[in-house]
Amino acid sequence: MIPAIEDPLSERDHKRVAEYIEQTAGIQLPLSKRSLIEGRLRKRMRKTGYASLHDYIDDVLNSAADEPERLNLLDAITTNKTEFYREPGHFHFLREHILQELMPLRDRGWKRPLRIWSAGCSSGEEPYTLAMEMLEIGKDRPEFRFEILATDISVSCLQTARQAIYAHHKIESIPMELRKRYLLRSRDKTQALVRMAPELRDKVTFKTFNLLTDAYKFQPGFDMIFCRNVMIYFSNEDRIQVAHRFAHALEKDGLLFIGHSETLTDKGTTFRQVIPTVYRKSSATR
Ligand SMILES: C[S@@+](CC[C@H](N)C(=O)[O-])C[C@H]1O[C@@H](n2cnc3c(N)ncnc32)[C@H](O)[C@@H]1O
Repeated sequence: MIPAIEDPLSERDHKRVAEYIEQTAGIQLPLSKRSLIEGRLRKRMRKTGYASLHDYIDDVLNSAADEPERLNLLDAITTNKTEFYREPGHFHFLREHILQELMPLRDRGWKRPLRIWSAGCSSGEEPYTLAMEMLEIGKDRPEFRFEILATDISVSCLQTARQAIYAHHKIESIPMELRKRYLLRSRDKTQALVRMAPELRDKVTFKTFNLLTDAYKFQPGFDMIFCRNVMIYFSNEDRIQVAHRFAHALEKDGLLFIGHSETLTDKGTTFRQVIPTVYRKSSATR
């Protein structure tokens, strides 16, 4: 049988999808990403039973704003790559910062829980890494309390994150000692799966949140925001705007962590650099 010829993603359809994604999530999809986008959209096209990419795109983009397939399309396009202990230097810095800078303040009466936001948390590896680190800090310090909010625009990523079940090969970057302490093995030994222990899961609240369009109403604010490898896909203006909103969502002296291949194009008005990729809210920002 001669296989059916698949219609390629035309420049016009690429442009329509790119416009929709940029308006909805701020993610930029230049023409250089055309083959990547085509592959991802083709998977959705097949899953939904369409024979042509053009028809799939046409129907989805002309459908009502709350049509579930619009979300699936967005989900298919977003890059969700993540891992436990990604960019491990950040977690080392965080531990030192809490122990050296924040704990002494605590001794002088700072009793509230530490609040951390993992903004763009993907499938949960980043916030669970943070939760493990915080539980470790709190092991010998019963007065130490913390809360982690983890948000993403992708509904399917958040579903995985809430389930907290991961394949064995995904946990290799977690130190063995912590694996023993915080991970549960699947009872069915034929399944190479682990689940985050309840004490970790209880520490993380997952929510959908679009960094570009949702209102940043957080009271009290956060002591730290991790927004790593998310803004890299945004335009410069969106990056500046989101950084400003982060500054307002942070408490005094709060820290912002970004990915190692990212820079904050903020010109020093809202943040001061502490080390590359870690910024402190500037005292001039309320
Ligand atoms: C590459 S992952 C990064 C995950 C994690 N922070 C890390 O560094 O490993 C980027 C995540 O940002 C999310 N994202 C992209 N645009 C977003 C937006 N406008 N609002 C919220 N999340 C967004 C994607 O869904 C994706 O899960």
